[in-house]
Formats: sequence, structure tokens, C-alpha cells
Amino acid sequence: MTEYLSLIENKLQEYLPSKDCTEGVLMESMDYSLKAGGKRVRPCLALEFCKACGENPEKAVPFACGVEMIHTYSLIHDDLPDMDNDDMRRGKLSNHIVYGVSTAIIAGDALQSLAFETVLSEEAEKICGSHACVKAARTLANYCGAVGMCGGQMIDILYEEKKAGIEILREMDEKKTGALIKAACEMGCIAAGADEETIALAREYGDNIGLAFQIVDDMLDVISTSQELGKPIGSDKENDKSTYVSLLGIEKCRELAKEATDKAVKALDGFKGDTKELKDFAYSLLNRTN
Ligand code: IPE
Ligand code: IPE
Ligand code: MG
Ligand code: MG
Ligand code: MG
Repeated sequence: MTEYLSLIENKLQEYLPSKDCTEGVLMESMDYSLKAGGKRVRPCLALEFCKACGENPEKAVPFACGVEMIHTYSLIHDDLPDMDNDDMRRGKLSNHIVYGVSTAIIAGDALQSLAFETVLSEEAEKICGSHACVKAARTLANYCGAVGMCGGQMIDILYEEKKAGIEILREMDEKKTGALIKAACEMGCIAAGADEETIALAREYGDNIGLAFQIVDDMLDVISTSQELGKPIGSDKENDKSTYVSLLGIEKCRELAKEATDKAVKALDGFKGDTKELKDFAYSLLNRTN
């Protein structure tokens, strides 16, 4: 998947508005977080799913960048003092530490708008057609909003200092993390003009690696180092978060993440195109260290 990384980095830069204006500091702070060196898991998934549907993966680039912009906005807001209050992200100071809370909030908001501008851009329309753009925007809006990522973040906050049961944790992780991962997988298929049956398979894969991804994230918050992770460790405990780790412990989490990854990989059987990368990627995410 790393073959796509420089393409994604370049395009993300290209889509950013010019800093040469009165409010240039806003664009600067958007740029700061966007180019801070995330793993780009979600854009890579979008490109790979487009390939799995038998199309040129590059067709999915505007959609892939749109999801990464939403993800970056979610991280900026996630780190704010009234959220997780974390001062490090992607190996650098968090956005609000450098630019202040007000600018960080506005940068998140503006990245959200930029995401939809990108998914609905003339460039995207030219490559994928207007029908695919509308469908991708609808998918992204649904997965990032109140019944998706924002809803998951709300559950996360509601269950601070309260013990969540396994069903609530499943719902929280499916929404706060699974939703944007599913968006990426489905939007890759949409860029390729795939049918509903194929999109449902991508959803099944995304749902399961989304769960595994958040379980591993919660494990790394306990067992990794802040240097390796590029963000503080022990944040969940400090904020009294309900996580799979706090409920079940590390070993059980390992088992559950593996089970979910196996399920995700099974969903790939239904694809016509090449899914080897998606299979390897799912297992590499399971064993990731950052
Ligand atoms: C971190 O996501 C937040 C979660 C949803 C668990 P990533 O681990 O994908 O963060 P970056 O993009 O690589 O920084
Ligand atoms: C973050 O979950 C989910 C979103 C940002 C939507 P976490 O709060 O666990 O993510 P990290 O650990 O800060 O990256
Ligand atoms: Mg959080
Ligand atoms: Mg956090
Ligand atoms: Mg975390």
C-alpha cells in the first residue's frame, strides 16, 4: 500500500486553500495537522478497494483525500482540552497547543468543509461521474455525522467515569472509528462504480477492521511508548475512558482483534479483483506498533 503514499501526500497538499490571505493562519493550522504524517490508513483503503473492484486505484484519490481530511479534523477536535486533552499528535504538538483552541476548532470545521468540497470537486466529477460523487458525499456525510463518528465520540464522552458493557463498547468503536474506515472502503468501491452487493462486502470488511483497529489503539495506549505512537500513552486511563482494554484486559483484546480481522478478510472472498493487499493490510494493522 505504501506505493500510494506519496500520491496521497501530494494531492492533500494540492487541495489545501492558499495561505496568502488575511486568515492565512487558519490554512496554516489545517496544513500543520494534515501534513503531520499520519499513517494514511483510510486513503490507502479507498484506493485498494477501487483496485479490488477492477478499476485504476487512482480514480479514488479525491474520495480518499476527503476521508483523510475528515479524519484529521476528528483528531484535532479529539485532542482539545474539553475532549481528550492530549498535547501530542502524529509526533508533533497538538494543533491547539501550537495555534490555540479557537483556531484548532475552526481548522477542524474548515477541514470538514474542505472534505466535501474535494469529494464533490470538478476533478472528482470528471474522473468518477456526478452520480458517484453524490453517492460518495452522501456516504461520507452519514458516516462522519451524528449517527457515525460524531455519535461515537459522544458515546465515548458519555461513558467517561462510567463502566460501559461490551455492547456499548462495540457500538462506540463501530461509530467513532469503524464509521470512517467503512466510509473509506465503500467510497473506494463507489469510485469504481461498484454495485450494492460489492459495497456491502466492503462495509463488512471495514466494520471488522474498524473494530480491530480501535481495540489495537486502546491496547497501544497501554503497552506502547509515546515516542513510538506519536501521541501520549495512558490517555485513556487518565480520562477514565471505557475501553475494551479496561473491561477485558490485554490478552482477551488480542483475541478479539484477531477474530474481527479474520472476519474482515473473509468478506474479501466475494471480490472479483485483486485483494491480496487488502488481506495483508488487515493483518499488518493487527500487528501494528503505532
Ligand atoms: C487514530 O487513528 C484515531 C483512531 C481512530 C483510533 P490513526 O491511528 O489512523 O491515526 P493517524 O492518522 O495514523 O495519525
Ligand atoms: C479517537 O479515539 C476516535 C476519533 C478521533 C474519532 P481515541 O481518542 O482513542 O484516538 P487517539 O488514541 O486519541 O488517537
Ligand atoms: Mg478520544
Ligand atoms: Mg484521543
Ligand atoms: Mg486511543
